[in-house]
Amino acid sequence: MKLTIVGGGGFRVPQIVEALSHRPGDQLDVSELCLFDTSAERLRVMIHVLDQLPIVRKPRITATADLTEAVTGADFVFSAIRVAGTEGRVRDELIPLSHGIIGQETVGPGGYAYAMRTIPAALDLAHLVSERAPNAWVINFTNPAGIITQAMRQILGKRVIGICDTPIGLVRRAARTLGHREAELDYDYIGLNHLGWLRSVTASGKELLPRLLDTPELLSQMEEARLIGPQWVRALGMIPNEYLFYYYRNREAVAQIAAEEKTRGQFLSDQQNAFYRAALAEPTRAAELWDAAHREREETYMAEAREVAGDGAREEDDLEGGYQEVALDLMAALSGGPSARMILGVSNTEASTGSGRRIIPALPDDAIIEVPCCVDTDGPVPAPVAPLDGAELGLVTQVKACETMVIDAVTTKNRELAWKAIALHPLVDSASAARQILDEYCEAIAEVAAVFE
Ligand code: G6P
Ligand code: MN
Repeated sequence: MKLTIVGGGGFRVPQIVEALSHRPGDQLDVSELCLFDTSAERLRVMIHVLDQLPIVRKPRITATADLTEAVTGADFVFSAIRVAGTEGRVRDELIPLSHGIIGQETVGPGGYAYAMRTIPAALDLAHLVSERAPNAWVINFTNPAGIITQAMRQILGKRVIGICDTPIGLVRRAARTLGHREAELDYDYIGLNHLGWLRSVTASGKELLPRLLDTPELLSQMEEARLIGPQWVRALGMIPNEYLFYYYRNREAVAQIAAEEKTRGQFLSDQQNAFYRAALAEPTRAAELWDAAHREREETYMAEAREVAGDGAREEDDLEGGYQEVALDLMAALSGGPSARMILGVSNTEASTGSGRRIIPALPDDAIIEVPCCVDTDGPVPAPVAPLDGAELGLVTQVKACETMVIDAVTTKNRELAWKAIALHPLVDSASAARQILDEYCEAIAEVAAVFE
């Protein structure tokens, strides 16, 4: 099998190769791992890191700056791109923040600016895959994953699937806290990317969530509850995805991010620039340098939320972000390994259900949502979940409307629509501030301006 990583010079690539090496070869037989990146230097660094990783079983690794060559003949394509790099992320976050509005990579205006400049590249990739590797599955890591996957789906249909590590992370923490293995449990999770809730966890038909919510010692073991506030989580009666921190504690989040010396984007941009520079200067230490930077990144993930919550260091078990595992589980199930149950970004009427029924009736057919799915070689089939209603339905409906406006704004080059998308986001409290934010994005990020030219 040929696996291509678009964004193959990216910082998380070694995690994928490590995870791949732990898989039984009969389950995932990758004969070629092809890395594509727009930066030859980053690719060079990654090749050094991968060469030095202390693992025995590595696929043959190739690297190219030619996207057509990379995609041609691929069985799987991982899309993990960052248009305008970490510099872009810095601006995504700082511009709304200067208006007193959340500055975050995927939530609110920052996510929309990131999406606007990424959609054209994602559509180009989707076209190329449909020409050069029409049977390939595209696993989309690129954020904001709900928007990017939805845009690519217009071209690739069900052959593009969005992934995220946060929903399964939530389920696994709940299982661990309840003293079960994930496989022993049934659960109900629903929402959008970075906007979902765990509403039920059962073992042999017995509902376990109330015990988790009502027992402070248990609830405090859940990172989500510590960040968002255990009492609030209990009042909600369900466990939100950790990204709901930015919604439920928006005021504190904005104040905290503004008070920090560096935003998350600035921290990572500095850290990664230093890493790639150091690794180029001392190629023989590339893996060691990567390891240290990687560890520091995981330890400081969502530090602003832990600061607000007065929470200490992260739990050791929570440190290893699981994107690579999610992607490889999915890849194994799609390529004939054991079928898997996973929470994935799929369409609201994922065709494999046969019925064409909408999972969230208020959303359009092609809206990408996140729900548990059963995956085999035909693709993901969403598992039944309870209807989404009340305040959560309202929030999901509003955010998905904005996400869809972002896609339409880009594909029709409509700046007014882009303004509406930003202004109507639930965390944006002024249409005129939204206008200024969009103008500033266009001034500061050439790739955003280019969308509307
Ligand atoms: C989680 C999310 C990703 C996001 C990442 C940000 O893993 O699921 O979608 O990209 O956090 O982490 P970072 O270290 O870049 O702040
Ligand atoms: Mn994610």
